[in-house]
Amino acid sequence: MAIALATGGSCAAQKLIRPGEPWLDSRGHRIQAHGGGITLWKGVYYWFGEDRSQTNDPDMRYVACYSSRDLVHWKFRRQVLALSDPEHLGPHWVLERPKVFANAHASKFVMYAHLDDAHYKFARVMVAVSNQIDGRYMFVKSFRPLDEESRDIGQFVDDDGSAYLIFESRPTKGFFIARLTDDLMNVEKVCFIPAPLEGGALVHYEGLYYVVGSHMTGWRPNPNVYATAPALTGPWTEFRNLAPPEVNNYNSQSTMLLKVPGAKTTSVIFMGDLWQPHELWDSRYYWMPLKIENGSAYLPPPQPWAIDIRTGEYRLEHPMSK
Ligand code: GAL
Repeated sequence: MAIALATGGSCAAQKLIRPGEPWLDSRGHRIQAHGGGITLWKGVYYWFGEDRSQTNDPDMRYVACYSSRDLVHWKFRRQVLALSDPEHLGPHWVLERPKVFANAHASKFVMYAHLDDAHYKFARVMVAVSNQIDGRYMFVKSFRPLDEESRDIGQFVDDDGSAYLIFESRPTKGFFIARLTDDLMNVEKVCFIPAPLEGGALVHYEGLYYVVGSHMTGWRPNPNVYATAPALTGPWTEFRNLAPPEVNNYNSQSTMLLKVPGAKTTSVIFMGDLWQPHELWDSRYYWMPLKIENGSAYLPPPQPWAIDIRTGEYRLEHPMSK
């Protein structure tokens, strides 16, 4: 249940997530973690994403990493990936939607990202590894998961710790949910969902799996949709809109669903990107708590909000009327 916020004090104001507004890191710089993912490691959240800083070398691609204990204040750790064209893809090669998976036993961290040429024909994932979560990641290989074309990828870790890659595969007109092998270096098929969607994200909440995706309109926003299933293998329901279709998902595109289990309740955060295709560095973030009730999910309009990761409760500045 959303509760009204005391907005008078500056203390409360500092703890708010403000979708669509410039989000500054600990240095006062704009957070560069587009198409990102979050990895929880030893009680700390690490946010990885595309670093589109204007000062970057235009021939290289970068992934930045930030850490936080409250999901509001983010400390810049470093550019964990600074990569030169690893597969000779040529000018305007693409590295997008990086996600990091942790292998708790081996203290090894594995980054997946969409790797492509300027025309999006290469359609592979790249894999890079590091022995520190915020260390330098070294390119290992690129491949087509399950031998399928792979463009947008998403990341999901289930309650039992199993890790999954979600990837969009155009020729098959749908997307795959694939389980990562124990060493995190390869994938095995779990399910194919015959819906041509990208920006795939998954969450397991109160006994149901929710998968979210956007339609394929490039950088332009569209109404994102979701389906549910009792198991990752399905059966999946039909897809329904997350928000009224005319709002175009409040101009955002899904990248991840983050579950925040607390002592009192569990919240699910929709993490989306507000792309600025001509100035990618200026792209913003759309993080809002998903309202989930009786198997239905609803993405609220943008407004400042706060989350308490200890209790799992969130508070909207302007609670929604039903
Ligand atoms: C979007 C995709 C982005 C990027 C863009 C390029 O659909 O989700 O990650 O690839 O297309 O047009």
